[in-house]
Amino acid sequence: MKSMTFFGGGHMASAMIAGMQRANQLPPHLMLVDPDAQARQRWSDCYGARTFEHVAQEPCLSDCWLMAVKPQQMKSLCAAIAGLHAQPSRCVISVAAGIRLARLQSWLGPQHRYIRCMPNTPAVIGRGVTALFAASDLASDDRMFAQTMMACVGRCLWVDAENSLDAVTAVSGSGPAYVFRLIEAMQAAAQALGLNAQDARLLVLETFTGASELAAQSALTPAELREQVTSKGGTTAAALEVFSQEDLSGMIARALTRAAARSAELADLVD
Ligand SMILES: NC(=O)c1ccc[n+]([C@@H]2O[C@H](COP(=O)([O-])OP(=O)(O)OC[C@H]3O[C@@H](n4cnc5c(N)ncnc54)[C@H](OP(=O)(O)O)[C@@H]3O)[C@@H](O)[C@H]2O)c1
Repeated sequence: MKSMTFFGGGHMASAMIAGMQRANQLPPHLMLVDPDAQARQRWSDCYGARTFEHVAQEPCLSDCWLMAVKPQQMKSLCAAIAGLHAQPSRCVISVAAGIRLARLQSWLGPQHRYIRCMPNTPAVIGRGVTALFAASDLASDDRMFAQTMMACVGRCLWVDAENSLDAVTAVSGSGPAYVFRLIEAMQAAAQALGLNAQDARLLVLETFTGASELAAQSALTPAELREQVTSKGGTTAAALEVFSQEDLSGMIARALTRAAARSAELADLVD
């Protein structure tokens, strides 16, 4: 795409544009619409974006619209865009959680080509993972454009059914918060065992990073890797026994089920 407008230049959009710059994928004509003056200044200084405080004709002439406002701000944003005049077909990419394509289409019009993405916060360091969904008849160059853009901030995968994005939201969208919660709990437990805060932080973070990398690189399954460090009657077995008694797997399954259900509920609420 030669020209691209970001509607919303907050956390997620900023992670994406920084990744696009790192990957040398900034579009030749970049525009930002955002009421936040600091965001506009940053995008102008760092990425050479032309910026607008409000929706206007010019940013709506871009080949691609990247919709990155909060879900509750999306309806009024779409009304402002749709109110300008009948827009010819654009590639519309939304990262908003819980806003279904049918809803976006009803707000912006049926002429556009729509893609939904669900990224996550490690996108800030280029280590995110994004699930993408589009109607099966969407042209392959639109798919390729969205995938290339999201690949600037991490790995990508396509899902075949839009409601799979509720599961994606529960797993990887909200997932970083679960990992941060586990890190917090392990650091607190490490300090309760007498380690100082600095050592606890280093030990816990390196354990998470190292174990994740090992699981990603190894030919063994996570269960096999777990068994490798668990000798009968040893320390790891003692800790894992507590996890089993407390039904760790059941708790995680219930938490993710609730998150996915909440994602579907929120999608029904947005209007
Ligand atoms: N952050 C994440 O981890 C994450 C993960 C996956 C998906 N997402 C999705 O990404 C989207 C953005 O999230 P975020 O965390 O980046 O939010 P954010 O930091 O609040 O950014 C949204 C930006 O859009 C601006 N804005 C509000 N109304 C606007 C309008 N009518 N036109 C143009 N800009 C407008 C906001 O300005 P004001 O602050 O002045 O309102 C703000 O600067 C959400 O829909 C969210 O579901 C986020």
